[in-house]
Amino acid sequence: MSTYVVVGLQYGDEGKGKITDVLSAKSDYVVRFQGGDNAGHTVYAGEEKFVLHLLPSGVLQCRGKCIIANGVVVNPKAFLKEIGQIEEKGLKTDHVFISRRAHVIMPYHILLDTYREEEAGGTHIGTTKKGIGPCYEDKIARVGIRMIDLLNPEVLAEKIQKNLKIKNSLFEKYFEKPALEFDEIYNEFLQLGEKLRDRIVDTEVELNEAIRDNKNILFEGAQAAMLDIDFGTYPFVTSSSPTTGGVCSGAGVPPTSLQNLIGVAKAYTTRVGEGPFPTELDNELGEKIRKIGFEFGATTGRPRRTGWLDLVSLKHATMINGINNLVITKLDVLSGISPLKIATKYRTEDGKIIDYFTSSTTKLYNYEPIYEELEGWDEDITHARSYDELPLNAKKYIEFIEHHLGINVYLVSVGPERSQNIIRKELF
Ligand code: GDP
Ligand code: IMO
Ligand code: MG
Repeated sequence: MSTYVVVGLQYGDEGKGKITDVLSAKSDYVVRFQGGDNAGHTVYAGEEKFVLHLLPSGVLQCRGKCIIANGVVVNPKAFLKEIGQIEEKGLKTDHVFISRRAHVIMPYHILLDTYREEEAGGTHIGTTKKGIGPCYEDKIARVGIRMIDLLNPEVLAEKIQKNLKIKNSLFEKYFEKPALEFDEIYNEFLQLGEKLRDRIVDTEVELNEAIRDNKNILFEGAQAAMLDIDFGTYPFVTSSSPTTGGVCSGAGVPPTSLQNLIGVAKAYTTRVGEGPFPTELDNELGEKIRKIGFEFGATTGRPRRTGWLDLVSLKHATMINGINNLVITKLDVLSGISPLKIATKYRTEDGKIIDYFTSSTTKLYNYEPIYEELEGWDEDITHARSYDELPLNAKKYIEFIEHHLGINVYLVSVGPERSQNIIRKELF
């Protein structure tokens, strides 16, 4: 078997989409296992730019099947819209399938997400307002609607009716908003089910057979470790497990089947949405990095917060994920900035020096990063295709990360294009 898992190690937007696109050219299967259309993955393929939210980024190059597995939450309208956009560009999509077990994001999930975010005095997380959290809530509460339910009119009607009773009461009484109509939702989702009928299949058996048949399978993570529901900066997290552990429950494959665990990190850090960010650069330099790195959300268009690389959080992320291969992206963005700072420890509010990531999100706001300084480089590195072509200080930067984390960087990305990679070791 040859399995590859690509996960983000920071707060999302590390460039996972670009890396998955590159790796998927040699994959028989590309599988999304968590999250939903809260993700935003930008892929440049020659002259074309694709922004993918729900479809696996492998959809463009994968020679086999693309699977949206059971752990994903699916907005059927967003799915069809994205399929339409891809087909408009002349690409085929008949290789994309959705698990019958995947949960459906309903209109009331999106409204609930939005009302909560907009509520004065509420916990403002800065979500994407795509209904992700409320959909996962219903899944765990065992009242969710699954893709398979869209194909059974009686079950669908009963489930929507039960859900609307509670949700409408919340909307009207608590949020003072209008109630939703049953007929409209029921008819729309029945039709969506019909449109998707041929794509709604069981995926776990086929995936396990593919593992036994030694196929190349790429599991594509959305979001990232620091947004993980358990190990991120709770409550400023997403509602799924974007870590390698999430692959097993999110796709129905055993832990023993996971081999190459690839963690993607940016050469610096970004975050979109609320929550602590110890190495944040809320100044001119942060603005400069945002401009050069074009750090604006692909899903919401929000400016991303920017900051120095944080090896304290990265160590936490690589540990939780068991990463055995690192990818560093956007090294090109750091050209011309010197000195470069990398956080290796934090000073707590009572002066203690620590090198591990805390579970106390409230305390993290007051932690001060302790930096190592490295000399930068001025050269444009976007044309480098071999490690030797990198300036000495760029190599020192990469090797500092490798040494600190004890994990090899197998790929350095030096631009958004498919070809802008320095591959130090072929994994496939
Ligand atoms: P994802 O959510 O992890 O897939 O990342 P996003 O696609 O949201 O954000 C990464 C952005 O950086 C995208 O616009 C990519 O095209 C771009 N990108 C990826 N790798 C590189 C790189 O090495 N250098 C530069 N300059 N841009 C990159
Ligand atoms: P990709 O796959 C960056 C953030 C939101 C918010 C928090 C919760 O492109 O890396 P949610 O809508 O999931 O309930 O929002 O998580 N967030 C992301 N940030 N990249 C993403 O995906 C994200 N998906 C969610 O901004 O802070
Ligand atoms: Mg993104």
